[in-house]
Amino acid sequence: MKQSSVAPSAAQPDASHIMQVGLGFWASKTLLSAVKLELFTLLDGQPLPADKIRQQLGLHGQACLDWLDALHSLGFLHREGEGPAARYANTPETGFYLNKKLPFSYIGAFFEMANDREYRFWANLETGLRTGKPQNEIQDSGMESFSAIYQSPERLRQFTDAMTGIQIGSFKAFAAAYNFTDHRVMLDVGGSGAALSTVVVQAHPHLRAISYDLPQVAALAGENVQRYGVASRVQIQSGDFFAEPFPKADLITMGNILHSFDQEKKLTLLRKAYEALPAGGVLAVIELIIDNERRHNTFALLMSLNMLIESDGGFNYTQDDLSGWAAQTGFAAAEFMPLAGPTSLALLRK
Ligand SMILES: C[S@@+](CC[C@H](N)C(=O)[O-])C[C@H]1O[C@@H](n2cnc3c(N)ncnc32)[C@H](O)[C@@H]1O
Repeated sequence: MKQSSVAPSAAQPDASHIMQVGLGFWASKTLLSAVKLELFTLLDGQPLPADKIRQQLGLHGQACLDWLDALHSLGFLHREGEGPAARYANTPETGFYLNKKLPFSYIGAFFEMANDREYRFWANLETGLRTGKPQNEIQDSGMESFSAIYQSPERLRQFTDAMTGIQIGSFKAFAAAYNFTDHRVMLDVGGSGAALSTVVVQAHPHLRAISYDLPQVAALAGENVQRYGVASRVQIQSGDFFAEPFPKADLITMGNILHSFDQEKKLTLLRKAYEALPAGGVLAVIELIIDNERRHNTFALLMSLNMLIESDGGFNYTQDDLSGWAAQTGFAAAEFMPLAGPTSLALLRK
């Protein structure tokens, strides 16, 4: 009798990548929960046994053990020894990036926000794909995205810290790689918690910076510049960048600003930057810019989907898109260079 076979054969393609990404939310939530529960901060400089971790974090016995071993298997914890005597420790990466005690290397604030907000909003991606509409707090309210997030003081702080977390590596790379010699005043448009202004003036004592953002952000930005000892050289200025002209500066920066808005608003912001700069002034865009083949920078492509979820019409764009908009608004051709990870710097000269 002829048998129809479903047994795996050598010719069968490998399903492991599909499995890994398709059920990637298991791994994702395992890591996000560890950040949220501050496991990596608890393990700061002290390997601990499972039982101690369980007590400190108030977790269930078997659940805690499986969670710790899953994190070890995923490469986020070292484990020394076996069985009940085993002790868990941070890896060099989790100890540096996910330990809350290290504010200028901690990227976990973005993960805290992903855990509390975006993880749930992404469950409605299909609706976003069908409608092109945001799936976050503004979904039903019709409010502007940032004002909606900033209604709650906890969300305001979490969002502001998250922005610093995801950009701090690129801000430090920009402060180290760009030649600031000919600049005197840097204006950071949408400066959030003033992290970019802080790292730039710390590295370049001749510079003064203006961190310009909505009024709701000013108190947190003010706290930060005091804490890092740069308040005398970083001015926190409040305003609405669509309603008012930009303050004057010879270097204007925009970190993750253009991707929050539709094309018309992107062009408005580029025009305003052009108007605020003197001849020879520079606009530096620090953003997840998609490669022109729209293939290689996966994180930038996924961020564009995140902007679908999080904003009204925002999207990430390619180098060619930005060069075209630069030409339309009067800038010379954009020059691009990589910063940290998938983030790029684009320099547009007036
Ligand atoms: C995505 S965040 C980027 C923050 C920061 N530049 C970075 O790279 O992490 C966008 C910032 O733009 C600010 N923003 C949005 N709309 C604004 C407006 N109309 N006027 C001034 N700032 C605004 C937000 O408050 C927020 O801090």
